[in-house]
Amino acid sequence: MNAPIIAPSVLAADFANLQRDVEMLNESQADWIHIDIMDGMFVPNISFGLPVCEAINKHAKKPLDVHLMIAQPDRYLEDFRNAGAATITVHYEACDHLHRTLQVIKSLDCKAGVALNPHTNVQLLEDIICDIDMVCIMSVNPGFGGQKFIENTYKKVRQLKEIIAENDAKTLIEIDGGVNATNAPLLMEAGADVLVAGSFVFKSLDPLATIEELKRIG
Ligand code: DX5
Ligand code: ZN
Repeated sequence: MNAPIIAPSVLAADFANLQRDVEMLNESQADWIHIDIMDGMFVPNISFGLPVCEAINKHAKKPLDVHLMIAQPDRYLEDFRNAGAATITVHYEACDHLHRTLQVIKSLDCKAGVALNPHTNVQLLEDIICDIDMVCIMSVNPGFGGQKFIENTYKKVRQLKEIIAENDAKTLIEIDGGVNATNAPLLMEAGADVLVAGSFVFKSLDPLATIEELKRIG
């Protein structure tokens, strides 16, 4: 079992001190910075958009992992690449022509991710698994930080791991929502590669130590 790739979510950061929090992540053992974009349409909440992503990118020394929780994400792929995205993840449920969307993301020189809501079966990705750099399994319903982890996630990780192996794909498995030090080892055991953590990192007394704690798992 490898050490996880850790992607703290700035959704739980202090927006009035975003530069300070991004600089903290630069100094930490975090591997990526997870950016949650919510449009109030695909999900019932609005977070922030392109200008904030650009502002984070100005200070970030780590790759930006951009999670688009927006309707018709094709409209903004190029803009988010220009705002600094290294990985762009779109939702399976928001794309009519997912295969085409993934090709566009790759043509922009970004890694292409697909996120699945808790109700979406991993089998639906079987036919395009080799075209996906990362699958983000949502372990909460997207839209809000600080929610309770859904236990069915472990099963989904194991099923997806099998699909990836059967197809000899290189796809990473990311887990997003309610990740903490209790479920993280179990997620890694089930086959996860990337752990997103918002509240667990930013609401802890010592975010640097909390990131280190997550990084040690595996
Ligand atoms: C949820 C977001 C998550 C969120 C995770 O819609 O996609 O990335 O920031 O936050 P926690 O770790 O607090 O569940
Ligand atoms: Zn996210």
